Amino acid sequence: MEIIIENDASKRASLAADIVVRELLSKENPVLGLATGSSPLPVYDELVRRYENKEISFANVTAFTLDEYVGIDPEHPESYRNVIHNAFTGRVDFKPENVNCPDGNAKDLLAACARYDQAIAALGGTDVQIIGIGSDGHIAFNEPGGSIISRTHPEALTLETRQDNARFFDNKLELVPTHCVTQGIGTIMTSAHPVLVSSTKHKAKAIRDMCEGPVSATCPASILQMHPNVTIIIDEDAASLLERKDYYIHRYATKIW
Ligand code: GLP
Repeated sequence: MEIIIENDASKRASLAADIVVRELLSKENPVLGLATGSSPLPVYDELVRRYENKEISFANVTAFTLDEYVGIDPEHPESYRNVIHNAFTGRVDFKPENVNCPDGNAKDLLAACARYDQAIAALGGTDVQIIGIGSDGHIAFNEPGGSIISRTHPEALTLETRQDNARFFDNKLELVPTHCVTQGIGTIMTSAHPVLVSSTKHKAKAIRDMCEGPVSATCPASILQMHPNVTIIIDEDAASLLERKDYYIHRYATKIW
């Protein structure tokens, strides 16, 4: 794992955007994985800025989002399809038909999930995948105690996740959907370059478990230790419980490749 600890939020966004732009420009028809949540928002703002500066176009990019709530009204502003449109894809030149989201309103959720997974696999997986992390260690919506080789599937949300996300639903827990559809850990692991962005003390335990804990379904993000090309970009608060923090700082500062 490449772990970058950077306290300046705009520098973190820039570092993540550098990776996204580099990976996208290296392919003719690149595939970009997108995450919701608040952590990636500065990265999207930075990518929009670079698009406006004509440094990058998304006209030939296919996007896949990580997850969606089950049963959410498609018009709801917190439906992840709408969130990603408003935060990013609708602000740049993506072709709408190239932005794919799992369908949380499908009659047959299992069949819809399987189709979504096959669509990602048919393009060889994402070239770069932006990821956030839940305070319980989830990535996408893969909650603790699931399968570490799962593909896109329906899932029940933990109470902790629903409490964390209540801020998007007028702080009313009862309004937060109880279930989701999510790319599986196995699906995410097919990405050529996962880039996880996170900050704040609230995530410190999850970050420690992800980077230094055992690889275990108890902390789904820890499976990223098994990926040969993953980048973790975090602030000092999120890094505060890391035992080998000094080494990670040294390793990145003296990177020679
Ligand atoms: C939701 C999303 C995750 C995201 C997490 C963290 O649960 N499904 O993909 O990583 O929120 O969000 P935030 O970055 O707002 O803390």
